[in-house]
Amino acid sequence: MSDYILECVALSKTYHDAYSKIEVLNHIDLQVKPGELIAIVGHSGSGKSTLLHLLGGLDKPSSGQVMLSGKNLSSVTEKEKCRLRNQYLGFVYQFHHLLPEFTALENVCMPLLIGHCPPKMAALKAEHLLDLVGLKKRLQHKIGELSGGERQRVAIARALVTYPACVLADEPTGNLDTKNADTVFKLFIELQKTLQTSVVMVTHDMQIASQADRILVLREGRLEAS
Ligand SMILES: Nc1ncnc2c1ncn2[C@@H]1O[C@H](COP(=O)(O)OP(=O)(O)OP(=O)(O)O)[C@@H](O)[C@H]1O
Ligand SMILES: [Mg+2]
Repeated sequence: MSDYILECVALSKTYHDAYSKIEVLNHIDLQVKPGELIAIVGHSGSGKSTLLHLLGGLDKPSSGQVMLSGKNLSSVTEKEKCRLRNQYLGFVYQFHHLLPEFTALENVCMPLLIGHCPPKMAALKAEHLLDLVGLKKRLQHKIGELSGGERQRVAIARALVTYPACVLADEPTGNLDTKNADTVFKLFIELQKTLQTSVVMVTHDMQIASQADRILVLREGRLEAS
């Protein structure tokens, strides 16, 4: 069994179109230790989101491997991949990707229900997480009735509600103003430390990146220590 919750080896991704090919990632190796917070920085278009998608099994590499909890995502069935993703990973996106027609509580319940948690138990766990992010009084609000910062906190609660071993976060505070970004990020880190969750986080914000255990720079398809 691997010591790493998430790992990639010689991971490459090339996009082709009718006229050209773009080599976005070129033999990337990364090992994520339990409880570790890793920040990935790099210019716009350098491949940060692409890398996160591959690590989360949301897209297929051109070559190389991703191991989640020691299992190679390329050699398991689609069903098993979904199960592993649901069991071990949480996702936070820049534009939260919450379901607008559902309430905060329903959105946070979703990953638990997908993992076949009984609905009453799911509601209790989701309520607890929403309480931890300061939204106890907003459980029944639809996403459209929440502020930007509140939505992002719902997204964080949703990512953590299954107590995943690792969270993949793409600009988790990218759509918030500085003050709100600070508050939401502090909360995220507090929960991450309490729950001992590993995090791989993409950010443009060096102030935020500087709080990570490791900062890695994605440049010309390669991942380097900063
Ligand atoms: N599905 C796709 N087909 C073709 N090219 C793509 C596709 N997705 C991304 N790309 C290209 O791959 C490169 C990396 O994109 P990616 O979204 O990973 O960048 P990023 O580092 O996350 O940028 P940003 O900081 O702006 O979010 C870009 O040049 C983009 O145009
Ligand atoms: Mg991106």
